[in-house]
Amino acid sequence: MITKVSEKFAELYGAGAKLFKSPGRINLIGEHTDYNGGFVFPGAIDKGIVAAIRPANEPRVKAYSLDLDEEAVFGLNEEDAPEQSWARYIFGVCREIQKRGGVIGGFDTVFAGDVPLGAGLSSSAALESTFANALNLLYNCGLDKFELARVGQSTEHNYCGVKCGIMDQFASVFGKEGHLMRLDCRSMEYHYFPFAPEKHGYRLVLLNSCVKHELVGSPYNDRRNSCERVAAVLGQEFLRGATMEQLEAIKDRISEEDYMRARYVIGEEQRVMDVCEALEKDDYETVGERMYATHWGLSRDYEVSCEELDFLVEVAQECGVTGSRIMGGGFGGCTINLVREADYEGFIARAVEAFTAKYGHAPKVYPVVISQGASAL
Ligand code: GLA
Repeated sequence: MITKVSEKFAELYGAGAKLFKSPGRINLIGEHTDYNGGFVFPGAIDKGIVAAIRPANEPRVKAYSLDLDEEAVFGLNEEDAPEQSWARYIFGVCREIQKRGGVIGGFDTVFAGDVPLGAGLSSSAALESTFANALNLLYNCGLDKFELARVGQSTEHNYCGVKCGIMDQFASVFGKEGHLMRLDCRSMEYHYFPFAPEKHGYRLVLLNSCVKHELVGSPYNDRRNSCERVAAVLGQEFLRGATMEQLEAIKDRISEEDYMRARYVIGEEQRVMDVCEALEKDDYETVGERMYATHWGLSRDYEVSCEELDFLVEVAQECGVTGSRIMGGGFGGCTINLVREADYEGFIARAVEAFTAKYGHAPKVYPVVISQGASAL
């Protein structure tokens, strides 16, 4: 990818580019908790975005997406938003940096990625943090890592229509090889947890249903609204910290749907804590149990799963896999699976065979490699 990006840059715009890259992410547990002020447990992966960038003398951006074979040209003012949806991520990052006092100029860039799009692996956060990090360094904007993550998140909010939490951008910026991160999305305190399931006879693997999820204009924002309504009735800023007893007490003042959404979120908070405790004891079986519980909560109460993902989780259950669940925003994408070494080959073969027989195409298999966050190359 690095070679392809550099060569294309040289061909289109000449010499003198610098290279930057940022990863996508996985999340072990803690789903749809970030915008509720709760805990998440992500890690950066070995798939991401690579960009070659060189400042230009004019205040305009020329961006070329190698994967789409398409160029976008746009200015740096609010009214210059490009048409192409992929270019709006880059434009949004430029605008958000400027809003934070960063003085940036135009630039030429070529980028490419190997994070599958719409697979729940945060390809958009990878794109945002690549450019946020690059522009911050190239133009000495002095933004710290949290602010870089927020630049990406605000880009989603203000230029892409997704009211996402901070998890994806945080993971992409703060990622550390061999470590997961537990982030408290209310206080923004975080800890790195060494994570090496293979040392204990387990592997982490993703199965991509190849059902593309699209969070833009999706029921994702509706989920967030449900949570905020319940929090407001409880008189809290966030759902974080609410108990099932409190939820029961206001049940007749909220809709059945909002009740189900909140029930999932409250349960998930406890599951993240359980998983952290279990990991400290290398108790991967408990980790797996909670992953299944998260899946069925996301499927039945939060209603962000789909038939194909439920099917993959059922196959995992039938194969005796330790843990399996939908990962990320939902509505398609991947399952994340915690599998005993001895069950690995059998499970993958069975999942591929059964899924293909039912849906006419094979799921894609990605072994998880926990990697480093945003960097200059
Ligand atoms: C998407 C969002 C995140 C988070 C997850 C669900 O990936 O971008 O902020 O809410 O969904 O956990």
